[in-house]
Amino acid sequence: MELFRIEGGTPLGGEIRASGAKNATLPVMAAALLLDETLTIDNVPHLEDVTTTNVLFAHMGVTVTMLDNMALAVDASTITRPEAPYELVKTMRASILVLGPLLARHGYADVSLPGGCAIGTRPVDIHLAGLEAMGAEIKVEQGTIKARAHRLVGARFAMESVTVTGTENLMMAATLADGVTVLENAACEPEVADLARCLTAMGAEIEGAGTSTIRIRGQSRLTGARHRVQPDRIETGTFLTAAVATRGDITVAHTDPRLLEATTEKLAATGARVDAGNDWLRVDATGMRPQAINVRTAPYPRFATDMQAQFCVIAAIADGVSTITEAVFENRFMHAAELERMGALIRPEGNTLVITGQPQLTGAPVMATDLRASISLVIAGIAASGTTDVRRIYHIDRGYECIEEKLAQLGANIQRLPDSTPIGSAVTS
Ligand code: UD1
Repeated sequence: MELFRIEGGTPLGGEIRASGAKNATLPVMAAALLLDETLTIDNVPHLEDVTTTNVLFAHMGVTVTMLDNMALAVDASTITRPEAPYELVKTMRASILVLGPLLARHGYADVSLPGGCAIGTRPVDIHLAGLEAMGAEIKVEQGTIKARAHRLVGARFAMESVTVTGTENLMMAATLADGVTVLENAACEPEVADLARCLTAMGAEIEGAGTSTIRIRGQSRLTGARHRVQPDRIETGTFLTAAVATRGDITVAHTDPRLLEATTEKLAATGARVDAGNDWLRVDATGMRPQAINVRTAPYPRFATDMQAQFCVIAAIADGVSTITEAVFENRFMHAAELERMGALIRPEGNTLVITGQPQLTGAPVMATDLRASISLVIAGIAASGTTDVRRIYHIDRGYECIEEKLAQLGANIQRLPDSTPIGSAVTS
């Protein structure tokens, strides 16, 4: 195990480059399972979740080749076992994304249920109901989803609530179904649109991806293609939040400002100066105490739940009382107790945190609980005075590429050290 030791009190400043989006890479890798040719993926971030997917693919007999310049070639023509066992699925909930493609191409798939999770129950009932609407027979036996369908059949399916990976799973399955599928109340997240661009390059016929109604005309087969994963909007937003929390000035290059409007609007509401170009964003909060903010999470294009924990750090040091409401997941405030250890004044009221900003946080030993909660503790540690040790940083490595290198490049005093503290149960996000 490892920990991050942070000597805080340094405003971050300078420029870093956005990585490819984790949440776009994982579904695009899953899309390769629809093919018996090669899908080449560019701008793949070097992350634990990508490594986990590679291990899962190796288990299934899929060949993954690392190419130069952050590219991967995935060849699923060699697949021998369309199944995802619990040992691999439990560390990464997004493994459920293989279900739709495997079923659509092979007629069967055995995928372990992801199980409990630190940020709420996160069921997959909508994924399963959608596949059933397309004619699949689904049983859950001993914790494994067993899905069977000679050939999926296009259907009209209205999703009970907005689910990102659910939309992606069903959209992928529908590309090889017989006839037209219409997904209603679909997720509008940019990662869904990115996946649709990849599927279209593979020969799929898709209309409306990125809106709440997606129409897919199934094909008898798809063909090999090359796709470049879009920049990571959550990583970009995380660094920009760090500019405000540390009263610094950060530019993120090679990103897409259009994907971050809800975040930049709230960053501007803190009083920070936000500038954007075609592919860069800059937040300048030099020497400035942020104003209190009110944030409520919701599906895209509104404020992302994956940015909520980072904004709690801004609220913790802001001038005034902020409210942070989590309306996507039922239990996503584990960072609150850790921030309190650093001097934050937080009062929970149902699914809202009422946070009274303090002039200064102080360093403390804290424990990461899920991916976004963990990075919020790192940002808090950089903003705080004194030393902060963040434990269980394996969560951060799942979703942030070269995080300590990027933070050090911006002036943070952060070290990765061995940690002999025993850890409890694994959690995912
Ligand atoms: C994805 C993102 C994650 C982000 C989340 C919400 C990936 C790999 N992960 O997760 O980073 O935090 O979207 O933006 O893209 N739900 C059901 N039944 C289902 C599916 C979901 O009730 O079948 C509920 C969940 O419990 C949750 C809500 O819907 O309350 C949203 O979850 P969902 O959009 O599915 O999250 P993920 O796709 O897992």
